[in-house]
Amino acid sequence: MSKFPKNFFWGGATSAIQIEGAYKEDGKGLSGSDCKTAGSFAKRRELTYIDQNGKPGTIPSNLGGTLPKGAKLAALDGYFYPSHEAIDFYHTYKEDIALFAEMGFKMFRMSISWPRIYPRGDENAPNQKGIDFYKNVFNELHKYGIEPLVTIFHGDLPLYLENTYGGWTDRRLIDYYMKFAETCLREFKGLVKYWLPFNEMNDYLLMLDMFGNISTKKTHQKSFQIIHNLLVANARTVALAHEIDPENKVGSMICGIPNYPATCDPADILETRYRWEKGIYYTGDAQVFGEYPVFAKRLWNEYEVSLETQPEDFEDLQKGKVDFYTFSYYMSNLVTTHEVKDIVQGNFANGARNPYLNYSQWGWSYDPKGLRYYLEAIYDRYHLPMIITENGLGARDTLTDGKIHDDYRIEYLKDHLHECKVAIEHGVDLIGYTMWGCIDLVSASTGEMSKRYGFIYVDRDDEGKGTNQRIRKDSFYWYKEVIESNGEML
Ligand code: BG6
Repeated sequence: MSKFPKNFFWGGATSAIQIEGAYKEDGKGLSGSDCKTAGSFAKRRELTYIDQNGKPGTIPSNLGGTLPKGAKLAALDGYFYPSHEAIDFYHTYKEDIALFAEMGFKMFRMSISWPRIYPRGDENAPNQKGIDFYKNVFNELHKYGIEPLVTIFHGDLPLYLENTYGGWTDRRLIDYYMKFAETCLREFKGLVKYWLPFNEMNDYLLMLDMFGNISTKKTHQKSFQIIHNLLVANARTVALAHEIDPENKVGSMICGIPNYPATCDPADILETRYRWEKGIYYTGDAQVFGEYPVFAKRLWNEYEVSLETQPEDFEDLQKGKVDFYTFSYYMSNLVTTHEVKDIVQGNFANGARNPYLNYSQWGWSYDPKGLRYYLEAIYDRYHLPMIITENGLGARDTLTDGKIHDDYRIEYLKDHLHECKVAIEHGVDLIGYTMWGCIDLVSASTGEMSKRYGFIYVDRDDEGKGTNQRIRKDSFYWYKEVIESNGEML
């Protein structure tokens, strides 16, 4: 019978911008994401700005959004920004970690807010209060024997860097990031051993297909350049982490969306392979093998991209190969070269509707077997230990008599964990599973609170109203048993 390995890292995952709140407290600066309004499935999130004449405005918060010349992102009066208070983890971390410990967590994935450490991003010295906060959180986790898994950057670029340099297209961001990363690696040495320099850098390439109709030559150039800069920063972080503490283990974090061909037309088969290459392997190969894959040239030609690089970049890539591979898994994607009427978009997937799958209210497919497929395909390619750093079901929960009966979530997790078990039996070295949004948090795509993932309910609505009280859902007790039995009860 297949088993989860001893010392398997059972746990949960979050990101700073989606839980911390306290957006201006103790010296924290704003991030670009602090200028993101709330949305819903039907209404996209927007970024607010002030133009060069001081006039406010908004743009879509995705690849299609381009700021008018001279405009700067800004948080404005009269708008609701969910990240400003989020679920207030900055003040409730002790209570929340105690709940994680009650479930028996062995690992907790969280990220560090860059503007909490460097409020503008270009200071000489870090903000001590920000450092203290994270030290307290890590100590609190260790008190319960919970291993922190730390994403250094999960989408919250200091607003000053965003406005001054236009984000990651500018190479100078690599140096600012390295300063931030080095501070984290030195300050939290001994407290953190497992690091992920970046969250889902492949999203920039997945978005090219999502927003195919609005992506232009300029967006292609931008996306590939951003990824190059991120890959260089990633590799330098890996090398530095190993130098600072040989105990450190550094991993990739890829948005894992397996692609299936919609038909057996060879053109579909080929297109599906190319989707894997562009969306999944391009960033994964560079992080694991320390060099761009052979097909990178084809992609650069196809997209008419000319990368701005330095000779040392390629040496850095070689010197900074990751120690383990992590990924998020929510859904699979159906690829075809034929015309399709029924397109489904969810997270960073964009393809034909798969008649064999069900879809959530937000258009995300429910495909546990896809998780096994992804695990086996990736392990076969890289032979590195793997952690599923995000997986879960975003759903609306109903509070009845102080309880949440979320059997649908239990079902979802049970189905996905079953496939993990099979993959392990087939030889995959899966060492951990951190369920996404283990405590309800602000949805990244929609900004809603009502798209809930957690084992722990947070009493807060889409407008930021509520008591913030934490309530254990049925899935909380279920996950506790899963961990207690090391997955035997699944
Ligand atoms: C992942 C992101 O892609 O998807 C998370 O890393 C995000 O930050 C998660 O929250 C789920 O997406 P959403 O839109 O439901 O919050």
